[in-house]
Amino acid sequence: THWKHGGIVGVFGYGGGAIGRYCDQPGMFPGVEHFHTMRVNQPAGKYYTTDYLRQLTKLWDMRGSGMTNMHGATGDIILLGTTTPQLEEVFWELTHNLDQDLGGSGSNLRTPADCLGSSRCEYACYDTNALCHFLTNEYQDELHRPAFPYKFKFKLDGCPNGCVASIARSDMSFIGTWKDNIKIDQDAVNKYIENDAAYPANAGAHKGRDWGPFDIQKEVINLCPTGCMKMDGKELKIDNPNCNRCMHCINVMPRALKIGDVRGCSILCGAKAPILDGAQMGS
Ligand code: HEM
Ligand code: HEM
Ligand code: SF4
Ligand code: SF4
Repeated sequence: THWKHGGIVGVFGYGGGAIGRYCDQPGMFPGVEHFHTMRVNQPAGKYYTTDYLRQLTKLWDMRGSGMTNMHGATGDIILLGTTTPQLEEVFWELTHNLDQDLGGSGSNLRTPADCLGSSRCEYACYDTNALCHFLTNEYQDELHRPAFPYKFKFKLDGCPNGCVASIARSDMSFIGTWKDNIKIDQDAVNKYIENDAAYPANAGAHKGRDWGPFDIQKEVINLCPTGCMKMDGKELKIDNPNCNRCMHCINVMPRALKIGDVRGCSILCGAKAPILDGAQMGS
């Protein structure tokens, strides 16, 4: 199979969005002589109406294989498998009838991708959807016409939990953060310590197994990467200037600890995932 992320096939005026796949032995595999992929720009936060999804899958059933990947590693809606003559047809339908654009591939800017942020998540430190949508519009030209010698990616996480893994997946990652203090509800901290059933650790996320009674020292304080937490009698103390906002304690005791109120976003340029070292912070 020949594979290429933009270039060998495409739609008029765009330098990416259609990813060519040609089989070298079409005689042996007649159904998949061409099996091109189309990257479709997913909406910020990946919110859809069922009506839109029906129209999209109907279009792809008619003009492609019917197979999709919701969503690809780059963030887009991936429509897997069509032939060269169908590319313009799909593009026309998308842009004229579905109010929908292609995403990036090849040396284009990639479709910016974000977590759902403040639209649903209490940890969001900024409106990821607004910023993702803005960047998508602002850099339309770069998204469709390769401006660089290689791809470039923006990814946007609303908080350091990194649900879209922006550091590993992009060149410029946006990560929500705060600079005042973690808000502590001491009564709730003690409910966790007392193993109150209404206060399950990790919001009950791992309750499929019996982990024994919750132990704040072992599960929270000792795991704080900067060692900035301690119990003072019945009171939990956090040395906030030394907190690096890793989210661990908040994830474990979400009813007791909340992100601060002075919120913003850290921008890391050059975030990368080198093969030997794993994901690294941008420089
Ligand atoms: C030796 C052959 C191939 C190589 C080396 C290769 C390599 C790659 C690489 C590096 C990516 C990017 C991964 C990512 O974005 O996470 C990719 C994505 C993709 N490949 Fe392949 N590929 C090959 C064959 C194929 C074939 C035969 C097909 C289809 C029949 C295919 C379909 C795709 C699609 C649809 C994507 C985008 C997936 C997404 O964004 O979720 N590839 N491929
Ligand atoms: C352990 C090694 C590797 C890992 C973990 C890895 C991981 C990834 C990931 C996660 C993406 C998708 C990024 C996104 O979200 O958009 C990607 C894309 C890609 N990788 Fe790798 N990769 C590895 C090695 C390689 C190597 C050795 C090559 C080339 C020889 C390669 C070529 C590509 C290409 C061409 C794409 C982009 C395809 C596109 O979307 O245009 N990768 N890789
Ligand atoms: S990255 Fe943070 S804000 Fe975004 S969905 Fe995940 S936990 Fe919520
Ligand atoms: S967010 Fe992380 S670094 Fe900050 S106090 Fe909690 S566990 Fe420690």
